[in-house]
Amino acid sequence: MSNPNRRPILAGNWKMHLTLAEGLALATEIRNRCGRFRQADVVLAPVSLALLSIVERLADSNVAVAAQNCHAAAKGAFTGEVSPVQLRDLGVRYVILGHSERRQFFGENDEGVGKKGRSTVDAGLIPILCVGESLAEREAGRTLEVVTRQLDGALALLLPEEVGGVVLAYEPVWAIGTGRTATPAQAQETHAAIRRRVASTHGEDAAKNVRIQYGGSVKPDNIAELMAEADIDGALVGGASLDADSFVNIVTRAVHASGLE
Ligand code: PGA
Repeated sequence: MSNPNRRPILAGNWKMHLTLAEGLALATEIRNRCGRFRQADVVLAPVSLALLSIVERLADSNVAVAAQNCHAAAKGAFTGEVSPVQLRDLGVRYVILGHSERRQFFGENDEGVGKKGRSTVDAGLIPILCVGESLAEREAGRTLEVVTRQLDGALALLLPEEVGGVVLAYEPVWAIGTGRTATPAQAQETHAAIRRRVASTHGEDAAKNVRIQYGGSVKPDNIAELMAEADIDGALVGGASLDADSFVNIVTRAVHASGLE
């Protein structure tokens, strides 16, 4: 079971799914059914167009809102982009950064993720910094090398005292949207390596406090065994977060598996 100092954090990444009406209906149901889980952080990441409406719908609830990306600058001539300061102004609390789909389809790199991490913390937001190897990298035995490089880039501009407050997400690319989850042992091995790396780059306190989510085909059926691992503090959920029953079940089982109910 993970460290009691680290509150479980369950986040739903809706990606480019759902109309505004669908998103509002889903957020409302999750709010109504997750209201009793004060011991965990529950976060929803809708498409940016829906952020304001979802923030308003979740006001005064214990469900927070994340953006799926942002620009590194606070403001400027960057057509089509959204800044962390603007997100904070809306009432958004978290930003997912460096998701593998951003890296794969939109050219994000480690250095850019590090800059965004810095500016989201400056804006008072909590970054959810994603790392994870591809199937080819895993099969070549390069998982830890790749994850360490991504992690170092993501945390490069953060101070030791800031790192304990961010969220990391280990998402093996081969497990995202494929139905193929890393085994709890595979996930734990990488999570432990991530925590050891944070200890060496940013100190023991940062390593002890930083929360590390697992992501990649998380479902109601596998969340409990993942949460039972010492260094897994929550989940970043894609497909299964689009259905109220399955996401609420994931939250319920994660809280239960953490011994918090
Ligand atoms: P998945 O996506 O749960 O659909 O595998 C996870 C993610 O991309 O964050």
